[in-house]
Amino acid sequence: MLVLGIETSCDETACAVVSDAADPARRIVSHSLFSQLREHAPYGGVVPEIASRAHIEHLDGLIAECLDHAGLKLADLDAIAATAGPGLIGGVMVGLMTAKTLAYAANRPLIAVNHLEGHALSVRLSDDVPFPYLLLLVSGGHCQFLVVEDVGRYRRLGTTIDDAAGEAFDKTAKLLGLGYPGGPAIERLAKQGNASRFDLPKPLKGRPGCDFSFSGLKTAVRLALEGCEPEVTEQDKADLAASFQRTVMEVILDRAKNAIAAFDASHGAQGKHFVVAGGVAANRALRDGLVALAQRSGMVFTAPPMNLCTDNGAMIAWAGIERFRRGMIDDLEAPARARWPLDAAAAAPGARA
Ligand code: KG4
Ligand code: ZN
Repeated sequence: MLVLGIETSCDETACAVVSDAADPARRIVSHSLFSQLREHAPYGGVVPEIASRAHIEHLDGLIAECLDHAGLKLADLDAIAATAGPGLIGGVMVGLMTAKTLAYAANRPLIAVNHLEGHALSVRLSDDVPFPYLLLLVSGGHCQFLVVEDVGRYRRLGTTIDDAAGEAFDKTAKLLGLGYPGGPAIERLAKQGNASRFDLPKPLKGRPGCDFSFSGLKTAVRLALEGCEPEVTEQDKADLAASFQRTVMEVILDRAKNAIAAFDASHGAQGKHFVVAGGVAANRALRDGLVALAQRSGMVFTAPPMNLCTDNGAMIAWAGIERFRRGMIDDLEAPARARWPLDAAAAAPGARA
């Protein structure tokens, strides 16, 4: 089985052809990615209108290149999958409309994939992790714990009540003048800094539950920077980056401890796997902390390889394969959605944040 996956929900234009080969190492047949970093860098963040236009400009060429590298034609594909949300609506529409057109032209089924499901299942593409598992999804737009029970069956244990962790990295990087995206830049600078110099607040740490809050941290970083004036040295910045990263890690590990306990109580008899996915999962310090925590808690830790952590086409193609296998296909009316929670019940108005 061969599925084309298209990802355009944020600032990466990406596509991939993925197969259902038994050996995970042989599944990604070909993949292409255009990162719009340079387009957005002058603005210190993603500009939705610029993103939509860049997707339009690059997607056709990337798909052609991807099929070409694989030596495939449209007719060789079994299905076409695309991110249908959540994300920046202009970009989502570009990818989904392209997928609908290809599906119609080639007379193949369309699979409308939830971007978060793409992240959630990426570890099954790389490592065949069995259901159910506990997932920490940490990206620029999301920060949540989910129990992944099956394809299409997710239970949210906790989420951020304000900013996502990646957003906190990006905003802090902007304050430090490090440019966009902030995560990798902060991680690099933190290596030269003293992580215990600044005592930043750790929102919700020690409280019951698995929710997050990161917006206060950004203000604390700004105040700490102002405290270093009139002259903010490179060492000040490195110390602040290191202290910020340590604080975020401490909060995430504290919340993860509670999430593991909750997962263990409800699903411990069926599963022992703890998975992390999303762009922030590319952070080495976070991974190391989570590995140690999982070991102490008797869980098996798995993370997809770095290039599958940040947005990519292969995870969308793979989610397409998982859905296609179960007969879960969509018609050409499938809508593009700016918001699309994986656990609709938890995200309903009036539900706990
Ligand atoms: O999953 P992703 O590529 O896009 C979204 O769906 O949001 O995640 C992007 C986010 C950005 O906020 C970026 O700063 C963060 O992931 N990120 C990192 C690292 N690499 C990317 N954060 C911390 N450390 C990293 N090494
Ligand atoms: Zn993402």
